[in-house]
Formats: sequence, structure tokens, C-alpha cells
Amino acid sequence: MPVEPKSYPLEGKLKSITDKTLQQHRDVLYKGYVTNYNKVQDAIAKADPATANPHFSDFSEAKRREAWTHNGTILHDWYFENLGGGSNPGAKTKALIERDFGTHDKFVEHVTATGKATGVGWAVWAWSILDNKTHVYALDEHQNNCPIGVIPLLILDVFEHAYYGDRFTDRPGYIKDFWADVNWDAVEKRTGMIPG
Ligand SMILES: [Fe+2]
Repeated sequence: MPVEPKSYPLEGKLKSITDKTLQQHRDVLYKGYVTNYNKVQDAIAKADPATANPHFSDFSEAKRREAWTHNGTILHDWYFENLGGGSNPGAKTKALIERDFGTHDKFVEHVTATGKATGVGWAVWAWSILDNKTHVYALDEHQNNCPIGVIPLLILDVFEHAYYGDRFTDRPGYIKDFWADVNWDAVEKRTGMIPG
């Protein structure tokens, strides 16, 4: 079954981006990731695995784009899902933040710094199966520097397409206003996926 784009009616609710940027990001770029995820899956299904090699084949090329389209889709889903504001951190979210970062302010500082440190990609607060702690990861593009064995909790898009149309190079201003837009209820719901 092909993946279908989800609906994120966030117009008029966000401080960090304008409705125009939201619509370009959601209705053009995000939908493109979903379309291309389905295309890549279709290409893998049709390609002959016997032709696989590290140089070039239809199978090999589709495999190279699989993680890009997979992560590009789900990271956007979770980014839009954790926007909308109108809520405060829930009990599990607060407990994880205080345990792993000390205070909410320290947590915000850490995520903000990671968003500034990333070249083109994402800042992702996630729980790791490796040490049963949460960390903030700096993903390059969608699929590089991407840890496995983690459950994402809060997602921040720092590709230039997320803010450049509104703010040009002012990524720090975009991240600062992102905090007013976080839908903490969505974050709290994700903590329910942490085992134990
Ligand atoms: Fe994006």
C-alpha cells in the first residue's frame, strides 16, 4: 500500500514560519517526499536484485535513495505533528528533560545549539536503546549521522527551506520562535513508545 501524505492544518497557529512557508513546505516538499518514497519502493520491487553492484544498477540506485525518502517523509510527519503550540510539557516529558538535561532551560539551550550546529538537516531529541537516556542528535540531510535504535520525541527541521523564505539567514530567530510553536502533547504521546 502506498504511503499517503497526512493533513497538518496549521495555518494561523505558528510564530516560527509564515503560512506561505508552511504551505510550500507541507504541500510541495513534504508531499514530494511521500511521492518519492512510494516511487523508490516501487523501483525496488521492480528491479532485478541479481543486477546489484556498488557502481550502478536500478536496484542499487533505488537502495541509495531508500533512507533519504523514508526519513524525509517521517521526519516531516513528526515535525509538522509536533507544531501547533497551545500546550505545556507533560509529566513524562518533564521527567526525561530533568533527568537528562537538568532543567527545561538547559534542554532548550541544547536543542537550540544542535539546530545551529547542524549543516543542512535536523535536530532530533530522541531516546536511545543504547543507554536508556535521551539525547539531541544532529542529522545531516535526512539520512546521514542518523543513529539507529532511537525513538524520536521532538523534531526540528533546520533545512534552509524551513525558514529561508521568511528569514533569509536568520536560523537562530527561527529556532527561537520554534519554542512557541511546540505541540508538547505530541511529544508526550511519543514518550509512550519508550520501553518499560
Ligand atoms: Fe523540511
